[in-house]
Amino acid sequence: MILLTGGAGYIGSHTAVELIQAGYEVLIADNFYNSRPEVIDAIEKITGKRPEFEEMDVCAPVKVDALFHKYKVTAVIHFAGYKAVGESVEKPLMYYRNDLDSLITVLEAMKKYGVNRLIFSSSATVYGVPEAVPLIEGMPTGCTNPYGWTKYMSEQIIQDVCHAQPELSAVILRYFNPVGAHPSALIGEQPNGVPNNLMPYITQVASGIRPHLNVFGNDYDTPDGTGVRDYIHVVDIAKGHIAAVEYAMKNTGAEVINLGTGNGYSVLEMVKAFERVNKVKVPYKIAPRREGDIAECYADASKANRLLGWKAQYDLDTMCKDAWNWEQQLRKE
Ligand code: UFG
Repeated sequence: MILLTGGAGYIGSHTAVELIQAGYEVLIADNFYNSRPEVIDAIEKITGKRPEFEEMDVCAPVKVDALFHKYKVTAVIHFAGYKAVGESVEKPLMYYRNDLDSLITVLEAMKKYGVNRLIFSSSATVYGVPEAVPLIEGMPTGCTNPYGWTKYMSEQIIQDVCHAQPELSAVILRYFNPVGAHPSALIGEQPNGVPNNLMPYITQVASGIRPHLNVFGNDYDTPDGTGVRDYIHVVDIAKGHIAAVEYAMKNTGAEVINLGTGNGYSVLEMVKAFERVNKVKVPYKIAPRREGDIAECYADASKANRLLGWKAQYDLDTMCKDAWNWEQQLRKE
């Protein structure tokens, strides 16, 4: 049985679906801090199978111990964590406490119960301000905000624990920019309040909730001056986890692997693609740069292909279509 901490969240829920469809038993532990109980129903609706579920905070050692005692966990995918860059700057202690505590608590329980496979949600944010793109796993790391540092520190903790426990296998996945939603439109991203990220902001502008998109800077050193990122369909990200679980079953030690498409798109290219694919208007205004943003960030995705046999399959049009279908579904409720 695969334990997904934070498995009711955006990436966790899509991964739960792919795992169940691949024949795995899934156990979700989530406190619904940034997700909703209906997600568990939606996973059942898509797959025809209800995952095991425990509502809990994975920072709580006694509860995590009881969880490992109750279920026969063979691998852990640790998604649980806070993820808003801006909030992490305002509340660094909250981020360090939660995101490091949860990882350490899970690692301690894994050690006690002899569970030796871990997949960890890291982020391309650990590359800091890139010296060059595309980003390759061995390139220098360093962060610009507390959220990023929690990922950086978590990677280091996992590397150290793998060194001390040679039986352990850990795959550290550095996500680029996950977007879109399940093609069923039954699960997707549900940001609380004003979205921080580009795609949910675009979908809310398209649906009329917000008057226009603020394009944060058009004077970057990029082809059209706006920021370039490696947007990747969340279902591709989810499938990357299945490949990582399979890899972890057969190998030991820690591996850091990018999950991206290898393609970079600018903010304005995203807006244009979204308008074209969905036949909706996305009014925008050029606004000042957002603090901490970088010009360009996209992956060299070849290691994932080499080690995991995984490659992103969905194109930008599908990302835009699925994001919009999900947004429209949300507004119907
Ligand atoms: N952008 C806008 N307007 C908005 C929101 C975003 O112009 O309202 C622009 C940004 O300036 C950037 C691009 O759209 O150029 C993407 O911004 P996102 O906030 O969607 O994504 P980021 O690349 O800034 O950050 C994401 C995740 C982080 C993660 C990082 C890793 O949100 O958690 O990727 O590279 F750390």
